[in-house]
Amino acid sequence: MRLTESVIREMSREAAKYNAVNLGQGFPDFAAPYAVKEKAIEAIAADHNQYAITWGVKSFRDAIAEKTKRFLGLDVDPESEITVTCGSTEGMIAGMLACIDEGEEVVLFEPFYENYAPDVILSDAKPVHVPLYQTAAGDWYFERDELRAAFNERTKAIIICTPNNPTGKVFTLDEMEFIADLCKEFDALVFTDEIYEHIIYRGRRDDGQMTMATNNPKHVCMAQIDGMQERTIVVNSLSKTYSVTGWRVGYCIAPPEITNAIRKVHDFLTVGAANPLQHAGAFALSLPDKYYNALQKEYQLKRDFIVPVLQDAGFRCGAPEGAYYVMTDISGFGFENDIEFTKYMIREIGVAVVPGSSFYHDKSLGSQKVRFCFCKKDETLQAAAERLEKLKKG
Ligand SMILES: Cc1ncc(COP(=O)(O)O)c(C=O)c1O
Repeated sequence: MRLTESVIREMSREAAKYNAVNLGQGFPDFAAPYAVKEKAIEAIAADHNQYAITWGVKSFRDAIAEKTKRFLGLDVDPESEITVTCGSTEGMIAGMLACIDEGEEVVLFEPFYENYAPDVILSDAKPVHVPLYQTAAGDWYFERDELRAAFNERTKAIIICTPNNPTGKVFTLDEMEFIADLCKEFDALVFTDEIYEHIIYRGRRDDGQMTMATNNPKHVCMAQIDGMQERTIVVNSLSKTYSVTGWRVGYCIAPPEITNAIRKVHDFLTVGAANPLQHAGAFALSLPDKYYNALQKEYQLKRDFIVPVLQDAGFRCGAPEGAYYVMTDISGFGFENDIEFTKYMIREIGVAVVPGSSFYHDKSLGSQKVRFCFCKKDETLQAAAERLEKLKKG
């Protein structure tokens, strides 16, 4: 068995045991939108309680197609190009099992969301890691030569996550076009995880400090790039945009032939996602722009609160461009590694984080990093800030 237990989920249990403020696992501790919850209650009361169509409730697939047109300008056919899955987690693994054969290679940027490498391994393929480096200001980038060198005739796909967990990087159009050209040249697919598409920040200087000046990153979906929709599997979910990580409702958008394969894998993996929650999902996806603008503003305030707190406490980090994480450098604290530091944080400081090594295949690369998440109530972030004061005295 080449899989180990999820460090993120393990740290959540450890945080509960020591009553630490949990800035580890990325789930909101505030309420999901009332209107969305109400729709779920109504759907249960209306007896949408049996198996839905395997690949998803029609009204939900229609809403996904409409939202994709509205935000990405893409036409997708709900009958042949959408599969509703149990979260984007299932979307990613179902997509890979459907498309990737034994011995093929999948390129992924490192650090990466910890499920990706196991997904590749479960698909009997080989992960090929390409590092993301950080500038002194905290921005993340890749070396184009290194990415090119990772592609060869065995390359079946690349995984992208933008806005990115754990780095907060939002890939630029230029970077995406470079990746697209490589995929065309090597006839590779793109799996793009877009669950943070609506969580993007404004106002950031090139040195990583926050300011009112504008350096506004923009979300680009790989399927929007010329000639890429036909080789892109977009993976998305309700989890982060509507603060319902426990609902386990997500979806894949892919060309018909790939969708056909994904639907078969999905059927045998899970049969289907929760029926009433898909009905509520149809409503959620049709929320007006003001919902998404408010979400953006809320998270912007949280980011602008937590980043200076972390910098002040001795963590080296820049301000993320998107998603709701801050990947920090802990070398100033003099700990042997990230696991020791995380235990110290949970037990002595009372704040749970995720050890950086869980985002790297070569654990040494993350051994002086930890990740904070800030998708938490203001009082939770305030409580964490007060506890982090202790680090300055230590
Ligand atoms: C990049 C990324 N993808 C997928 C997931 C899991 O998403 P879901 O709840 O839709 O399965 C997470 C959760 O933190 C994530 O950060």
